Amino acid sequence: MSLKIATRGTISPFIVMDVMRAANQRASEGRDVLHLEVGQPGTPAPSRVIEAAKIALDDDRLGYTDSFGVPKLRQRIAGHYKDYYGAEVNPSQIVITTGSSGGFVLSFLSAFNAGDRVALAAPGYSAYRNILTALDIEPVMIPVGPETNFQLTPKLISACAGQLDGLIIASPSNPTGTMIHATELNAISDYCCDAGIRLISDEIYHGITYGPRAQTVCGLNSDAVIINSFSKYFSMTGWRLGWMVVPEDMLRSIECLSQNLFISAPTLSQLAGIHAFDCTAELEVIVEGYAKNRDLLLQKLPEAGIDKLAAAEGAFYLYADVGHLTNDSYTFCQKMLAETGVAITPGIDFDPNCGNNFVRLSFAGPYADKAAAADKLIAWLR
Ligand SMILES: Cc1ncc(COP(=O)(O)O)c(C=O)c1O
Repeated sequence: MSLKIATRGTISPFIVMDVMRAANQRASEGRDVLHLEVGQPGTPAPSRVIEAAKIALDDDRLGYTDSFGVPKLRQRIAGHYKDYYGAEVNPSQIVITTGSSGGFVLSFLSAFNAGDRVALAAPGYSAYRNILTALDIEPVMIPVGPETNFQLTPKLISACAGQLDGLIIASPSNPTGTMIHATELNAISDYCCDAGIRLISDEIYHGITYGPRAQTVCGLNSDAVIINSFSKYFSMTGWRLGWMVVPEDMLRSIECLSQNLFISAPTLSQLAGIHAFDCTAELEVIVEGYAKNRDLLLQKLPEAGIDKLAAAEGAFYLYADVGHLTNDSYTFCQKMLAETGVAITPGIDFDPNCGNNFVRLSFAGPYADKAAAADKLIAWLR
């Protein structure tokens, strides 16, 4: 007799992971693969972080830490807000998490009840809606397109029927790389304050921008939860380390949730992560590499007939409208992988309604791979 599996666990898969598995399977058969599907840096953690980790392995017991994280790391992050954004944050409001993913679970559980409604842009990072759904919180998808730079505006939010309890924004966004600049960010933040909506700002791609710096919500809205991570700019995906800036009145609830769900974020990563903020020179070289990859794809993809691209101002993605080539992006990406070895992600991962006409290409890996992939796509699509 098979036992029941709870419906809350039957959320949509994170399709990019399925694509990655298919690509890895192909590679294990000795066949060529060019990875433009995964959204992770191709580089290791900065060298000072690795050195600090080696020392901690030898010298530290690596037990649990306080649920809010190692005090020195929390202070260092508060210092980062001062140095990078000129924003004042009390270290007591910094909560260390197991990647930003841990931050989503903690903040959604703390801010929303089952049945609450949380708005977010479509296309957007799929885990937002999948985690909300698993927690019985209703994701309210607001379609966005090139007219608003694939970002939400107060007008779009206010046009949404029914009361909203929360709003998630991401600038730069995954999958589009588009940003919400200062005036719009202020307007969205003010709208949320006036309407009693809890704003959650995913700032994971801050530091990876190709024009103006990304603006933080920190200092704009004292009720907002800010989520960030060491995974992208700091090139530390597998270290599973992130942080939140949490409003004072949510701290105790987040603490209790964190103690029970995670106890603490990985200690080794926390001790090493303190040094990530001293590695700017090394990290900026990585961002320069992304910029070169981006320029290359922006130049080459139109030769393959892929020329309707979101204005990737940050992150390491190009979100392309391929509606003239397919109305089934999942099958299109499968066929591309099978026939060219180029792995990219179907838009339905980010937008279940319109994503069948879109694909996402990640340009985070080596330049040579992007060049080879572009040439293959040009040959394939011609
Ligand atoms: C927009 C966005 N937020 C959050 C995450 C999760 O990152 P992590 O849990 O590694 O911090 C990702 C990962 O790709 C992302 O693209």
